Amino acid sequence: MLDTLHIDTWENRFREYYVEETSPTEDAAHDLGHCTRVAKCALALARESNTVYDPLVILAAAYYHDIVNLPKNHPERALASTYSAEKARLILTQMGFPQEKLDAVAHAIYTHSFSLGAQPETCEAKCIQDADRMEALGALGVMRCFYTSGKLGSSLFNREDLRGSMRPLDDNKYALDHFYVKLLTLPAKFCTDQGKKMAQKRALLLHHFIDEIEADAAKGCGYSLQIAEECASAGKDGRLFFCPVDPFASKRALEPKAYLVDRFLGFLPQSHFFFKSLQEEIS
Ligand SMILES: [Fe+2]
Repeated sequence: MLDTLHIDTWENRFREYYVEETSPTEDAAHDLGHCTRVAKCALALARESNTVYDPLVILAAAYYHDIVNLPKNHPERALASTYSAEKARLILTQMGFPQEKLDAVAHAIYTHSFSLGAQPETCEAKCIQDADRMEALGALGVMRCFYTSGKLGSSLFNREDLRGSMRPLDDNKYALDHFYVKLLTLPAKFCTDQGKKMAQKRALLLHHFIDEIEADAAKGCGYSLQIAEECASAGKDGRLFFCPVDPFASKRALEPKAYLVDRFLGFLPQSHFFFKSLQEEIS
């Protein structure tokens, strides 16, 4: 019976299903790499919480929390986690997943959504929500934000008022406005103490990035401006973020047409704050 198999076997099964059922080039911000990092981060937060938790519930929720992925501008966007929870129940039932754990998985998936605004009540759900929000911060958060703006065809920022201090913020129109509308508000909303600490650290990178891109915009060039442009371009092309087996090309030739990080490796010094944070975030 599948429900007696070891947890690693379950994780492999979740991963196989995700690869079979989704297209990484359709939305690289919600690819298998995203699910894998959410799983790893949520398990680490749960271990540090000194609370009883079920790792299998965390893994199932991590791999299926975005199984119904609606675009940011979709009218039913706030219902995506409800649909994902319903679909995860069906998928897991067909896999022979323990029935008694399905409610806990569905709750963690349902409450992870930012736009829905539901409160997670279990340790597993709190860790999944924090781990998913962690992905919106730091270098990964920058990449995902500008990638999505390129995919949706919005501008990088408002050239007259980059920080939106003299105008209403509009993150449908300007990617950088999303930092103020959502991303920088996230650390205060984290559920776990350890998650909140990590989130505050990653939010510092966003502030640093805003400072640099503002200076770059004034002179018309610079590393942060180029990072934003490359991410938006990857969103238009449907390029992947990383090579899954060798993300920083330590043992292979660069493939800038295939991987966004390979583009960074062509111009960005490895001592740059963005690059150093990215290495830490995906290690
Ligand atoms: Fe997610």
